[in-house]
Amino acid sequence: MQTPVRVADAAAIREAAGLLRTGALVAFPTETVYGLGALALDVRAVGRIFAAKGRPPDNPLIVHVSHLDALADVAAHIPEVARRLGQRFWPGPLTLVLPRGPAVPDIVTAGLSTVAVRIPAHPVALELIRAVGAPVAAPSANRSGRPSPTRAEHVADDLAQRVAMILDGGPTEVGIESTVLDVTGERPVLLRCGAVTRTDLEIFLGPGSVDELNIHQDRDASLRSPGLRHRHYAPAAQVQLCAPGRGHAVAAEALARGEIVVVLARGEPGLTELILPERLSKGSVTSVQMPHAPIDYARELFGCLRALDRLGAGVMVIEEVPREGLGRPIMDRLERAAEGSG
Ligand code: TXA
Ligand code: MG
Repeated sequence: MQTPVRVADAAAIREAAGLLRTGALVAFPTETVYGLGALALDVRAVGRIFAAKGRPPDNPLIVHVSHLDALADVAAHIPEVARRLGQRFWPGPLTLVLPRGPAVPDIVTAGLSTVAVRIPAHPVALELIRAVGAPVAAPSANRSGRPSPTRAEHVADDLAQRVAMILDGGPTEVGIESTVLDVTGERPVLLRCGAVTRTDLEIFLGPGSVDELNIHQDRDASLRSPGLRHRHYAPAAQVQLCAPGRGHAVAAEALARGEIVVVLARGEPGLTELILPERLSKGSVTSVQMPHAPIDYARELFGCLRALDRLGAGVMVIEEVPREGLGRPIMDRLERAAEGSG
């Protein structure tokens, strides 16, 4: 039986909430990417998430709640800085890692003593969580290792028949996953960058107040942020990064090896939509124009990688973007896609 994809109107959200309450899986839109939801405090329901995604059991999940008071259901206590950050950035694309409360099962946190929580800024997600009346665990709704889904179709491509319902709320606004910030220590530590940038956090908390996990230097980095251990965001094609303007030179080498090659480069300032080709050819390099502004680039990125996979790309040569503002999380995701390649 095909998984129902339903326009996320009030009736569909009510039904979805009913399904979640029985322990089933429902995919739903958030402002970042689509999530694959299950009752966070129900071990069997959460087990279904790991099975559907093919997710390694050592990679913990984010718990989604609809209001600040619900933090008490999942966190052992709420550090003052977490309360302030929540008031400032929620609902929004910021996940806070907090001391884990006793109600949260091991399977959600991969046995860690912390739990990741956020309030998503999407009316469908919020209404769904309210209707369920309990915290909802939700990783991105892709098969493990694939780019996160930014449209309901992407979820269907990866998880059809593995979920009870997909709520279609249209394309997501941000397009990349939330910022993850650990606030269990003396100083906040950025574990994953996202649309709430380090600068945003430091404007609010004070200059120099946020540490960053360096996966290359920090020996315990992958213990603190298990997501870093795993291959991520990778399309089926091989991804090669290069400096702006160098795309076609790099592509020529791959073309000579007989690959189907595309070059992704930013279009002119003012270009806000992605310009995709209808088909790719084996004998020549195809250009893909990415939106110019980081905010538009981020929104289109994962959908673009998926579309090019579908068209049969063998090699994606991607020109780097400046690491400022949203450019940082964009480059982070591109680097992981490139690491997972080849
Ligand atoms: O934007 C998002 O965050 C989306 C939407 C659906 O909310 N969710 C998402 O979930 O991206 P996922 O599972 O794909 O990524 C969760 C990240 C992983 O890198 C995981 O390791 C990390 O959060 N994480 C979860 N719990 C953690 C914890 N207790 N300590 C450290 N990192 C944690
Ligand atoms: Mg994910």
